[in-house]
Amino acid sequence: MQGGRGAIEIQVDLPEDGALAGMAEVVREGLSCPFKEIPPKYFYDERGSELYERITELPEYYPYRCERQILDARAAEIVAAARPRTLIELGSGAASKSRVLLDAMSEIGTLETYVPVDISEEITRRAASELVDEYPGLDVRGIVCDYETHLERIPRPEGALIAFLGGTIGNFRPAARRSFLARIATLMYPGDRFLLGTDLVKDRATVEAAYNDSAGVTAEFNKNVLAVLNRELGADFDLDAFEHVAFWDPENEWIDIRLRALAEQFVDLTTLDMRAHFARNEEMRTEISTKFTRERIESSYADAGLELLEWWLDDAGLYALSLARPLAQ
Ligand code: AVI
Repeated sequence: MQGGRGAIEIQVDLPEDGALAGMAEVVREGLSCPFKEIPPKYFYDERGSELYERITELPEYYPYRCERQILDARAAEIVAAARPRTLIELGSGAASKSRVLLDAMSEIGTLETYVPVDISEEITRRAASELVDEYPGLDVRGIVCDYETHLERIPRPEGALIAFLGGTIGNFRPAARRSFLARIATLMYPGDRFLLGTDLVKDRATVEAAYNDSAGVTAEFNKNVLAVLNRELGADFDLDAFEHVAFWDPENEWIDIRLRALAEQFVDLTTLDMRAHFARNEEMRTEISTKFTRERIESSYADAGLELLEWWLDDAGLYALSLARPLAQ
């Protein structure tokens, strides 16, 4: 890596109608089903992103801290064998954890390029300009897109570490998770590595507390999706007419996150020209957060065409980071 300030190139690859393209149809479908459901990607407007930041600081919400602890302890090992020149980070946000990996790559002298991939242009640009100042010679080639749909368009120089942190893979439905991992495997060069953060199956009390915090931040985060629908789709959801519900589903090994209607009500969504009916106590799913075991990750990797190389836990054994490589084709 040369000294001096590196280059910044941010490619915006969003549909013309922006990050929320397709929302109308997705929400129409989700509200028309007998069991209503809204995908979690609509949580993250400005307010939702702020609330998520606050969640990561809550005493009950262990995943963020655990992941950080593993990264701090293992960053050198993560980069030692494959010696990546590029860090590609899916859902990079403010790049707070990326610095741990960038530091480790810089330490062994391989760091050349950082490819942040995120839906927010503002956050990606801010992170890029901070990072070129912090890492002399680092080129940042960011891409603003929905990484789930645009995976194949992300620049992929050979010799990359692809990081998907935060446990976000747990928010995918099983079929979407399988296809996402398989698509990642297909895109990888033989020397590339995939670094994945996953929350682990554990006792019900610990995991339920993480999604039912005593300060009520998760409840506010959950209900904020209704404010997003009000703003984006001309809906008239009354946020006080719903309550936050989050419980452990042992069969699926996920936390099921819902909004429960406190009374019977009708909600108008003018953009959709639609009226939705909620019975008293009716629940609408807004998110799942799947928890994993080593066996399940290993077999998910194998199904996707990946091989588990390393498995690291935090001190309390609540969370795992795993490193994988593509199976020889
Ligand atoms: C982003 N994702 C990994 C979080 C999780 O734990 O599933 C989202 C979240 N939902 C409620 N609290 C945190």
